[in-house]
Amino acid sequence: MPKSVTRTFGILTSGGDAPGLNAAIRGVARAAIDVYGMRVIGFEHGYRGLIENRARELHPAEFSGILARGGTILGTSREKPFKDKEWSSPDGRGAVDMIKENYRLNGLDCLVVLGGNGTNTTAHLLAEEGLNVIGLPKTIDNDIVETDITFGFHTALTVATDAIDRLHSTASSHNRVMVIELMGHKAGWLALYSGIAGGGDVVLIPEIPYSIENIARHLEDRARSGKTFSIVVVAEGALSVEEARLERKAFKKQREQMTGSIGYRVAREIEGATGLESRVTVLGYLQRGGTPVAYDRVLASQFGTAAAEMLASGDYGKMVALRDNRVIGVPLEKVANRVKTVPIDHRMLVTARDVGTCLGG
Ligand code: F6P
Repeated sequence: MPKSVTRTFGILTSGGDAPGLNAAIRGVARAAIDVYGMRVIGFEHGYRGLIENRARELHPAEFSGILARGGTILGTSREKPFKDKEWSSPDGRGAVDMIKENYRLNGLDCLVVLGGNGTNTTAHLLAEEGLNVIGLPKTIDNDIVETDITFGFHTALTVATDAIDRLHSTASSHNRVMVIELMGHKAGWLALYSGIAGGGDVVLIPEIPYSIENIARHLEDRARSGKTFSIVVVAEGALSVEEARLERKAFKKQREQMTGSIGYRVAREIEGATGLESRVTVLGYLQRGGTPVAYDRVLASQFGTAAAEMLASGDYGKMVALRDNRVIGVPLEKVANRVKTVPIDHRMLVTARDVGTCLGG
């Protein structure tokens, strides 16, 4: 058996669930136990379980049959220990103190966290507190910096593309504009990629504020050229040119007064500007649920086993990442507090425009 610097490590999943989490847990744990002989302590429901010491040793049998399963066998939560002012132990200690205490109590040499931007930012802050931490990039939004891709994204992309394909039937049968709203508050990767994959006629992403006049012109041109329907893909974080000029507070206030989510507003605006009958579908949590596609299973397994290698060599304080088809470790400090949005000169935007997609801006 190869030597390992890490003998015992903790593992947790945090933030929104994403397809591939179980494949990643299995990848880390199988390699860590079978190849290096480490002990694995699982914490339930993300950082919340670490604060409350909801911990148990995980054994090889628990990793059988989970590769293709959605969700996370460990459970998850959106607990952010460094922002948690409410939690306090009976003797008055705060969330971060309890994490440090439970890390020590469980005899951990390292903590492996699987999650998105918030999770990896917390991981960095814990590393600054003196804990050994390794992060894995999970999210359907694909908005984590320093990695080309996150696991979960390809499954969501497949689900969203299938939904767009299905909407074509109703769009063409009824001569309608079908608006589909997808996840992605800050980054439009999912809307952009599924818009291209599904042949969306209009794709609206947070990075390119839209003007309803541009959208209306595009849809009317399509109608004049004999196209009897249109598909409009909207990221949940899409915003208008007018909104982009607002200060954060004024923007928030305007959004609080909005009826329904952004997809509904875009449909109303399209009907108002063009008179074209419009309908809305909000895909919601269907994008995050269910079995991961093969790509995500492979990526998550690869990230998991890479994390086990990093545990063995004591390569802590890093997030596993994919760059130019190579799995590497990047310092957590480079990942913390950042979001990977779609650069406005990104090749995929050129592709979208070149195939006739209106990006609204
Ligand atoms: O996982 C990220 C994400 O999918 C975002 O795109 C979305 O806004 C968010 O999760 C919503 O999740 P929840 O309702 O679980 O907080």
